[in-house]
Amino acid sequence: MASDLGVWKDRWQDGNTGWRQQGVNETLVKYYSLLKLSTDTAAKQKIFLPLCGSTVDLLYLAKECNLTVVGVEISELAIETFFNDNSLAFTKEGDVYKCTNHDIIIYVEDLFTFQTVKDFDAIWDYASFVAIDPELRPRYLAAVGNLLKKDGVWLLANFDYSLEEKESHRGPPWPIKQEDFVQLVNKCETALSVEEVGSLDCLTGRWKQQGLTYMDLHAWVLKHK
Ligand SMILES: C[S@@+](CC[C@H](N)C(=O)[O-])C[C@H]1O[C@@H](n2cnc3c(N)ncnc32)[C@H](O)[C@@H]1O
Repeated sequence: MASDLGVWKDRWQDGNTGWRQQGVNETLVKYYSLLKLSTDTAAKQKIFLPLCGSTVDLLYLAKECNLTVVGVEISELAIETFFNDNSLAFTKEGDVYKCTNHDIIIYVEDLFTFQTVKDFDAIWDYASFVAIDPELRPRYLAAVGNLLKKDGVWLLANFDYSLEEKESHRGPPWPIKQEDFVQLVNKCETALSVEEVGSLDCLTGRWKQQGLTYMDLHAWVLKHK
């Protein structure tokens, strides 16, 4: 089964982007130190945001954390929304967007074919793993894992909620139970270790309105074995 890229582009065109956050992601700030990135400004390190959308985390990581930031996103509208929302000048050459004043590059590409940049020191994965159709999860984990440097760290946030209660809209985000996630990673063709580093009750108004009785965010650290 192929990833349904047209559906995502349509969501951007229709403004159906309820996942977008105003500020820098709190989970990223809380667990940033686990990425073990250097504070040495002379040795710039590289972080990857798969399925980056228009998240302001791209700017935070480039500007405040002095990193080279690389995103992959299929919707050009999402990418231009990121630059415009943050009043950032950019250039576009082919399918590559570059920020003029900060070290941010975003590729317009299907994540599953992306190979242009590898050996990332870190990966920040929010609303990305959970955006992928559950059938494609093994491929997603293997593909993204392959882009991580041997001693790199992948910080990933996923969600668990009762799917049965969410009749009106089954996903994304696609929920996953902790034990199922651990099993999935353990079976991944890219050998990865996985550790839960924290969780958060995030049953806010938007989800309550959809009839959910619980919604938990789980934060994980993945590394090469
Ligand atoms: C739920 S959004 C999350 C965006 C971002 N991570 C955030 O936190 O705001 C998922 C994004 O992935 C993009 N996308 C979905 N499948 C993709 C794929 N296979 N390759 C590249 N981008 C994809 C969509 O256009 C959408 O912007």
